[in-house]
Amino acid sequence: MKTNIETLDWNLGNINASKDKDGRKTLDDVFDESTLKNIQQLFSRGIISTLENIIATGKEANVFRAKTIDGRNRAVKIYRLNTATFRKLEKYIDGDPRFKNSGNNPRERVFTWAQKEYKNLHSMWASGAKVPKPYYVHKNIVVMQYLGWRYRPYPILKDLIPVKPEEFLSYLLETIRAYRSMNLSHGDLSEYNILNVREKPHIIDVGQAVPKEHPMHEELHNRDMKNVHRFWKKYIRGLKLEDLK
Ligand SMILES: Nc1ncnc2c1ncn2[C@@H]1O[C@H](COP(=O)(O)OP(=O)(O)O)[C@@H](O)[C@H]1O
Ligand SMILES: [Mg+2]
Repeated sequence: MKTNIETLDWNLGNINASKDKDGRKTLDDVFDESTLKNIQQLFSRGIISTLENIIATGKEANVFRAKTIDGRNRAVKIYRLNTATFRKLEKYIDGDPRFKNSGNNPRERVFTWAQKEYKNLHSMWASGAKVPKPYYVHKNIVVMQYLGWRYRPYPILKDLIPVKPEEFLSYLLETIRAYRSMNLSHGDLSEYNILNVREKPHIIDVGQAVPKEHPMHEELHNRDMKNVHRFWKKYIRGLKLEDLK
């Protein structure tokens, strides 16, 4: 299918409206030709109808707020199709029996990665863990529940310390126990990947989460719990690593 740039321009209306130099540069940087085509396919399949604004730009991915045809918000995470992305992901894909033939081509591996994030979100969501509900995955794009109010995403934990740290932590431990019951380790759990959603934790960024069969399963979980402890001991006096169960 040929990318219909005019349709796309219309769908990107809100983003294109900010015609300042930096905004334009970000767009050119994010949307290589093949990503544009993949976004176009999401539009024509009716998964989303517009991209509204950029929430975050990262080394491996960019996150947007999008709208569905019936006006609901979605978060859309778009992985960059470059070798840097694929390098970082490699060690988490190899050894995960869910993705045996992920392909040697870097691009294919990024697609596998998006699949992996989607699957992880799905298992975690099903376990009752508080994560964004996954809606769709296509090539390098994951569509999920938007955690925010209007155009503002809820802040990461680092930027908004909860009013009641003990209570927040106990909800967090509940979520960790829930995804552990699916035999998953998050692998990058820190104050940067936990959103403070009206004083309740939601965990994001689950692409690197690995199942029990993966050689790094235990090591990653131990590192996660050390991170959790390092952060919370600043707010909860006398908190011990062994208390985090
Ligand atoms: N479902 C979501 N709802 C709202 N904001 C989100 C959502 N997912 C990610 N974000 C925002 O995008 C940022 C980057 O997302 P993340 O998944 O952590 O990607 P990265 O790999 O770049 O760290 C987050 O810090 C958060 O601000
Ligand atoms: Mg992150």
